[in-house]
Amino acid sequence: MSTPHPPGSTRNLSDEALTAAVIASFDGASSERFRTVAQSLVHHLHAFLAESRPSEQEWAAAIDFLTRTGQISDERRQEFILLSDVLGVSMLVIGINHPAGEGATESTVFGPFFVAGAPEIANGEDIARGAPGAPCLMTGTVRSLDGTVLAGAVIDVWQADEAGFYDVQYPDLDGARGRAQLRTLSDGSFSFWSVLPTAYPIPADGPVGELLAAAGRGPMRPAHVHFMVAAPAHATLITHVFVAGDEHLDGDAVFGVKASLIAPFERHEPGSAPDGRVLDEPYYTMHYDMVLAPAPAPASEKG
Ligand code: BEZ
Ligand code: FE
Repeated sequence: MSTPHPPGSTRNLSDEALTAAVIASFDGASSERFRTVAQSLVHHLHAFLAESRPSEQEWAAAIDFLTRTGQISDERRQEFILLSDVLGVSMLVIGINHPAGEGATESTVFGPFFVAGAPEIANGEDIARGAPGAPCLMTGTVRSLDGTVLAGAVIDVWQADEAGFYDVQYPDLDGARGRAQLRTLSDGSFSFWSVLPTAYPIPADGPVGELLAAAGRGPMRPAHVHFMVAAPAHATLITHVFVAGDEHLDGDAVFGVKASLIAPFERHEPGSAPDGRVLDEPYYTMHYDMVLAPAPAPASEKG
């Protein structure tokens, strides 16, 4: 005769009882937040498996995919961020944390090509530093929600060149090209020269590329310039300005386009640019005004 199982036993569980037991196994977690998130994860993971009913070969392939996603990642390449991007997870996390409609400039994906410590420049300087592409003067302002100009806001800017590559994607390139850090002037304005950005494919030579190919999806991102804008007492803004008219605006591989972030990049014939620079080739201008939300209240002050 078998002895009755003690309450909470992990023995002899049906599929349904197994899910309940794994969820209950987190009941004693000391952090309430950890308990909530872990129990939700188990609930949805088990529901996903119950619905999709993978074979053992399929499950092994899934583990292999995730293993390779980790193995190809290093300090220059972050395949898990790319996976999060192509699954729309990055944009969902942004949507949860930066709801639109409050008047602040909308956020979009950070992407894998930011490099901390970019060269600091004065307003008006050229950040291309030899990056190929049509010259483009980018100007704008940084303000608070109430319209107050933000002087001294720190702007990081980075972008791909005319070939669709970031400087870090050139193995032999030494030094930054198409990236810089600058500060807004006393009237909250900024300006710098760079090159007209072009559309480019996200890195598709790893597991994420396999996923896109299996899905019949393309790897393209519409042309854009990345901005990260930080000012005291304000939430740091991570965003892009997209080039109006780009053919990929409605087919972004990472779902990052918001209509409010699309700006005209106007083409001009050779001659004097608005800042007095004289160009002997066609050039472009783009202007974008940014609005920063207030810094979120510390967790202890939230109701
Ligand atoms: C980017 O815009 O740099 C980017 C964003 C997500 C994935 C790959 C690249
Ligand atoms: Fe980019």
